[in-house]
Amino acid sequence: MSETERLNTILKNIQSKIDFKPQIALTLGSGLGNYADGEEIEIAATLDYHDIEGFPVSTVQGHKGRFVFAKIHGIPVVIMQGRVHYYEGYSIKDVVLPTRLMGMMGAKILILTNAAGGVNAGFKSGDFMLITDQISDFVPSPLISENIDSLGVRFPDMSEIYNKKLREVIKDTAKGMDTPLKEGIYLQLTGPNFESPAEVRMCRILGADAVGMSTACEAIAANHMGVKVCGISCISNLCAGMTDQPLSHTEVQETADRVAPIFKKLLTASIVNIANACLAPNE
Ligand code: HPA
Repeated sequence: MSETERLNTILKNIQSKIDFKPQIALTLGSGLGNYADGEEIEIAATLDYHDIEGFPVSTVQGHKGRFVFAKIHGIPVVIMQGRVHYYEGYSIKDVVLPTRLMGMMGAKILILTNAAGGVNAGFKSGDFMLITDQISDFVPSPLISENIDSLGVRFPDMSEIYNKKLREVIKDTAKGMDTPLKEGIYLQLTGPNFESPAEVRMCRILGADAVGMSTACEAIAANHMGVKVCGISCISNLCAGMTDQPLSHTEVQETADRVAPIFKKLLTASIVNIANACLAPNE
């Protein structure tokens, strides 16, 4: 089966279960897992990844695996509560399959969130970073193999992966809430091990402000298919070698959980402002 056929089959399967056309897609990172349970999220339906035939399923603890179809202040949003990661052993094409499906469902805008390690010495744990650009060369491109012509071109432009207008709206939203928002470049590594101090220095030399194990490949896949992308990282820790503490997933989770309430507010307000500023009224 070609990748196009696989995507179309899974999409049909989802649409046979759920009739919902999202305008915005949202991928939740560590700590934001329960965003979809919030008061302002009016859930229309949920669909466990397990119940979708052929769908890659996450194995990481704390990552719920389901799509949530919801209205947020009236805006139809599909939410990925839990994503699959390359380090779990999936092919990079499997990793971006859910992202592509959300675009195929009709989402015009994708908001990516994650927990990331701070490489920039001016960052501290608990900061939020608006992603301005990315370095993805340590993982394979999700566009390798036969091009899916129905989604996009063979050699897509990547000069503005993170849409400028969306970035402006998110910056204005954060300012309006008095929430400090850093900006910077996200670099994706495979994980699952954290980086060595020498690798962190390498990432800094390459121009990264934050490193993580997701997001960049998803941003490429979405950009390829013409979905506008924006991304916010929660800096859950400073990277190895920058403090005298060893790193652990517990620290990542604890920081992400600690700042989750503000992150959620920023997300909801951004979604509302993005819908007003960036979606045509009839979309
Ligand atoms: N490195 C890579 N990925 C991460 C980190 C880190 O320090 N923290 C959260 N995700």
